[in-house]
Amino acid sequence: MILVTGGAGFIGSNFVLDWFKQCDEPVVNLDKLTYAGNVANLKGLVGNSKHIFVEGDICDSSLVLKQLQTHQPRAIIHFAAESHVDRSINGPAAFIETNIVGTFRLLEAVRAFWKEISPTQRSTFRFLHVSTDEVYGSLAENEPMFCETTAYAPNSPYSASKAASDHLVRAYFHTYGIPTITTNCSNNYGPFQNPEKLIPLTIRNAVTGLSLPIYGDGQQIRDWLFVSDHCGAICKALETGRVGEVYNVGGGSEKKNLDVVTTICDMLDELVPRNDGQNYRTQITYVKDRPGHDRRYAIDSRKIETELNWMPSETFETGLRKTICWYLDNRAWFESASGSAHQRWIHQNYANRN
Ligand code: NAD
Ligand code: TYD
Repeated sequence: MILVTGGAGFIGSNFVLDWFKQCDEPVVNLDKLTYAGNVANLKGLVGNSKHIFVEGDICDSSLVLKQLQTHQPRAIIHFAAESHVDRSINGPAAFIETNIVGTFRLLEAVRAFWKEISPTQRSTFRFLHVSTDEVYGSLAENEPMFCETTAYAPNSPYSASKAASDHLVRAYFHTYGIPTITTNCSNNYGPFQNPEKLIPLTIRNAVTGLSLPIYGDGQQIRDWLFVSDHCGAICKALETGRVGEVYNVGGGSEKKNLDVVTTICDMLDELVPRNDGQNYRTQITYVKDRPGHDRRYAIDSRKIETELNWMPSETFETGLRKTICWYLDNRAWFESASGSAHQRWIHQNYANRN
């Protein structure tokens, strides 16, 4: 049995779905169902008695401890977080609460559980903390990629809150001996991603005839990884990673934002051409930049590749094509994730950017 936090979100739900494709070990899925948690992501598991969904908050230590005592998991995979940089700029409080206080409370519950379990359970127990490359800050175009020893320099409330959580996890390993492993991954994309994020937002806006907003000059660089490849890396780190270690995970796929958007446009031109014969690129609109916008992220994944024998299986082009086809085939999901709360966010984020 494993316990997953945030398993109704984008990466967490992909992880749980992939997990049950590979094995039938039970999963307790603890999720608060914030605006980002979507039970529709887990529809494929309805009727699967091995998937135990618990609606709850990681900030509630006693609830978490009760789940640990009841289910005695051999591992925790911690995805739950507030995850959107723009929302962290508009309202950082929730990021402090869930990403920092929540991770602290979760670790406290784990510490209490750790004291109660047998030496045999302790020898295999793992706390896997899922984090981001954004904790390392921003790179200039000619600077070397982030590696595991790069100094932390977070620039947004989101990345600062994730950095704080990474430090807490590190401290619980060094101080209390909790067997933690941290993964710092680059930008993910794939099925079930909230349409507030660049790739699903671009696909949805394109096919609904809306503008495709590019922040600033669109020359910012991100490394992109297909979500199942990230889930595969987490499984490798869980099963064969060394405790107390950090593993950077990336797709070896640095792209400028403008190139990401034009590639999506070109694929859509081929898959679902516009009725008026125009290209989707004509919908691109430059808008006011994100404050403090990091220029470049690039990740050196050699440690996880050589130590744990992990490699991504999708290139950006193959992963993006799969992603676009998934969204085109799952328009009902897309619309359910774009309801009134989402529309309010879109208004709040974009109204003053033009
Ligand atoms: P997401 O926003 O799609 O999902 C987050 C999930 O956590 C939601 O289901 C939400 O309901 C749940 N949640 C939020 N607060 C909670 C709380 N207090 N208690 C319990 N559940 C709560 O996020 P995501 O994109 O799936 O990211 C998952 C993790 O991976 C995060 O920790 C994020 O920092 C990290 N990460 C994301 C990316 C990326 O590109 N999306 C890249 C690297 C790392
Ligand atoms: P995003 O998907 O929000 O991820 P992150 O900020 O965690 O990297 O954004 C990816 C990049 O795309 C980032 O540089 C900001 C940019 N972006 C736009 O240019 N326009 C948009 O409408 C959005 C949402 C993002």
